Amino acid sequence: MHLRVVPCAQQYQPTRTKMEIFNLIFILLCSVFVSAHGFSRNLPILSFDEGYSHLFGDNNLIVLKDGKSVHLSLDERTGSGFESQDLYLHGFFSASIKLPADYTAGVVVAFYMSNGDTYNKTHDEIDFEFLGNIRGKEWRIQTNIYGNGSTNIGREERYGLWFDPCEDFHQYSILWTSTSIIFYVDDVAIREIKRTESMGGDFPSKPMTLYATIWDASEWATNGGKYKVNYKYAPYVAEFSDFVLHGCTVDPTELSSINCEARKSSDSIPIGINASQRVKMENFRKKYLQYSYCYDNGRYKKLPSECVFNAKEAERLKRFDPVTFGGGRSHHHRRHANGNGKGKRHVAI
Ligand SMILES: *[C@@H]1O[C@H](CO)[C@@H](O)[C@H](O)[C@H]1NC(C)=O
Ligand SMILES: *[C@@H]1O[C@H](CO)[C@@H](O)[C@H](O)[C@H]1NC(C)=O
Ligand SMILES: *[C@@H]1O[C@H](CO)[C@@H](O)[C@H](O)[C@H]1NC(C)=O
Repeated sequence: MHLRVVPCAQQYQPTRTKMEIFNLIFILLCSVFVSAHGFSRNLPILSFDEGYSHLFGDNNLIVLKDGKSVHLSLDERTGSGFESQDLYLHGFFSASIKLPADYTAGVVVAFYMSNGDTYNKTHDEIDFEFLGNIRGKEWRIQTNIYGNGSTNIGREERYGLWFDPCEDFHQYSILWTSTSIIFYVDDVAIREIKRTESMGGDFPSKPMTLYATIWDASEWATNGGKYKVNYKYAPYVAEFSDFVLHGCTVDPTELSSINCEARKSSDSIPIGINASQRVKMENFRKKYLQYSYCYDNGRYKKLPSECVFNAKEAERLKRFDPVTFGGGRSHHHRRHANGNGKGKRHVAI
């Protein structure tokens, strides 16, 4: 297939003054281009050495003989990780990952973008995090973003999965454009973050490096730190392959004058989700969403401005986690009252 995908998301700046009919035609055109192109299937798959380099963990990072697969392991000495050789502004980034099985409490595998090394106080981040679990309980996936150092506002979501991520490789992808961020698991879009004006700098907007790591997060990863990494079961090995790094590469010495939109590489990435993918996404969220900051009134007295209430998601979360999402205000007041001794009897365990 040699159809070029029109970067609709970048050209298409919705304003209230535009006619509905124009919008509709435009969206239709976009989806035709996307479906003609296919999903990520046509994007080039890189070998490890073409796109990535060693970050930490010495021999706990092993590049397999084919050069296209990597094992990252965590043992009592160290975790391990790799990073992309280039910085990217926007693009489609993907890897197939197989997670370690059995007891993995406290273990975190992360596939993410960040520029914390370059911008200390104003860094951006887009995260896929896999949180290990005790034996017999499934891994959970967490997604999150930070923009321009917005670390005081976590935008986490957590989900279960419709498959066992230890049994086989599955593709995890991040699509990042100037107007939205979409997280995919295999062909299913699981989350879409649309840039809104009120988000301001909180939407990631500076070039970032891709990272993959495995590490000991005993302090928080499983039941808020209740279950720690048990090195009796080490090494914990996460397998990575099918590396796609398809974005606008940025010269780190020219950070002040980036002109990605004009470059060729940003023209051939997928640009968004079509109607049938949106239905799939809604079905996924109705079934597998386990946490969303947008419904956590205990944490955010005033929800971040981009949050849009969705009755089905609210109902799902209420059923899944009545303590956090169910009982309305009273639960949270009780939990927070713990500190001053009032209401201790009501603390949820
Ligand atoms: C929507 O996109 C998916 C994934 O790219 C594709 O398989 C499907 O055919 C598309 N559907 C339509 C109606 O364009
Ligand atoms: C930023 O700098 C401070 C002190 O200079 C340091 O403690 C911190 O770890 C740095 N943060 C990042 C993300 O590099
Ligand atoms: C990011 O933060 C810095 C420092 O707080 C500020 O000067 C800058 O305007 C912010 N950028 C955006 C895009 O909000």
